[in-house]
Amino acid sequence: MLSMSKSFYVTTPIYYVNDQPHLGHAYSTLLADVLARYYRHKLGNDKVWLLAGTDEHGAKVLAKAQEQSIPVEIFVTSVAEKFQQAWKNLAISNDDFIRTTEERHMQAVTKIMGRLRAAQTPTGADVLYQGTYEGLYCEGCEKFLTERDLVDDKCPLHPGQTPQLVKEANWFFRLTDFLPQIAESIEKDLIKIIPAERKNEALGYIKQGMTDFSVSRENVSWGIPLPWEPTQTIYVWIEALMNYITAIGYPGDDKKFNHWWPAQAQVLAADILKFHAIFWPAMLLALKLPLPEKLFVHGFFTVDGQKMSKSIGNVIDPNILVERFGVDATRYLILSQFSFGSESDIKVSDFTERYNADLANGLGNLVARLTNLAEKHLPAGTSIPEVQDMRADQINTLIEAMKYREALQIIWQIIAECDGQLEREKPWELIKTNPERVMVLLTELLAKVRYIGQAVTPVMPTIGERIAEIFATDIIHKPANLFNRLES
Ligand code: MSP
Repeated sequence: MLSMSKSFYVTTPIYYVNDQPHLGHAYSTLLADVLARYYRHKLGNDKVWLLAGTDEHGAKVLAKAQEQSIPVEIFVTSVAEKFQQAWKNLAISNDDFIRTTEERHMQAVTKIMGRLRAAQTPTGADVLYQGTYEGLYCEGCEKFLTERDLVDDKCPLHPGQTPQLVKEANWFFRLTDFLPQIAESIEKDLIKIIPAERKNEALGYIKQGMTDFSVSRENVSWGIPLPWEPTQTIYVWIEALMNYITAIGYPGDDKKFNHWWPAQAQVLAADILKFHAIFWPAMLLALKLPLPEKLFVHGFFTVDGQKMSKSIGNVIDPNILVERFGVDATRYLILSQFSFGSESDIKVSDFTERYNADLANGLGNLVARLTNLAEKHLPAGTSIPEVQDMRADQINTLIEAMKYREALQIIWQIIAECDGQLEREKPWELIKTNPERVMVLLTELLAKVRYIGQAVTPVMPTIGERIAEIFATDIIHKPANLFNRLES
């Protein structure tokens, strides 16, 4: 039967290639990956599309290449490869990886700019017009700054840099004409911004008043030329946002594009909320395209209490975590550390302790004990039923809301309950007096473990698979240790 279930398109931000991937990039990408893996299971593999990629143009990236005396094309390729490798190491299941220096993107962007140039705002004015920008620019954010953005005259995200004072001829996007419709779309959750504080923050930008934004730059050579005025390049943020649609065939491949767009979930952090909640919808409205359904906006986290920064020297390379803990555990440790959406701290210094407690002694030990007991006391051919825990619906709802930590907490309650039952009933002793009860108990607990394996799969894909393998035949197969204890 032809399945009519909806497709599910989920995106991550595309990261600048001025530096190698760090834990912050890994976190957003993991959030999106778990959702994609969850929906592949729920809807079917071909119903889900996960997009990742890199943002490769602009002054910041060029400056970095020049600093290292590497031709910029070679530089961006080498860093983009590091992102791709890091995502492989973290078992990110992206279906595509878009680089903004690829022909497919640059050609599509050129066409989209042409469409914008021909487009009108709701009041009948041209969407794009020529003007002059005079003001501050933060190269670290690749962002034009307003007075409101400043803290002590600096960009709060880049307090070590002095914002540049620029005056340049730019093409502008008539944002102001679209603001009423954007405000309404956000208010009515047509574009649902999660959590609610971020929705209010987005509405706050509009209430405070916003001006039109630049779509081109005068003095930035590393970019896509503005088609009708090639001395200008397209402002890096404008073409970067377009990746979400160029990667799925817009404009040109209507079939593919209409299949996936609008996105069901776009993941980002609060630092780039204004671009995604205001500028991006404005561009889509001007192109007469539907708005994304949900923006999942997480907070900026610190690492062991400090902002991650090169000067502090605490920038964490996710590959190092994978080397120490393995990919599944790394994913677990990062995602179970704090709740989605909150301003939080990743305590990498606690990772070893939590690895030993939750994974080696928790899940790993339960699976080892039970499969040992099964090997000794369960007759071959005992079938282990596939039953969901009564909390399965609750767990699924939490995952769909990206509340992975809370979902994992419930799964770990089930693990603790299984441990408790083993301790209370002591099947290794009970076997002498009541073997029937032991059979029932082990079957019940193994069924729970089977469910636990399924429930953890989006977060720990390999572990999920290895737990499923225990039950693959009618002989319960005892796996090698899932997690070896680590010395602290
Ligand atoms: N290139 C733009 C995004 C374009 S999307 C069309 C960009 N790149 S970035 O490399 O600076 O990445 C910013 C994103 O990285 C954040 O929105 C967030 O997803 C992630 N994070 C970087 N550092 C982080 C933390 N310290 N904490 C949480 N997320 C972090 O902006």
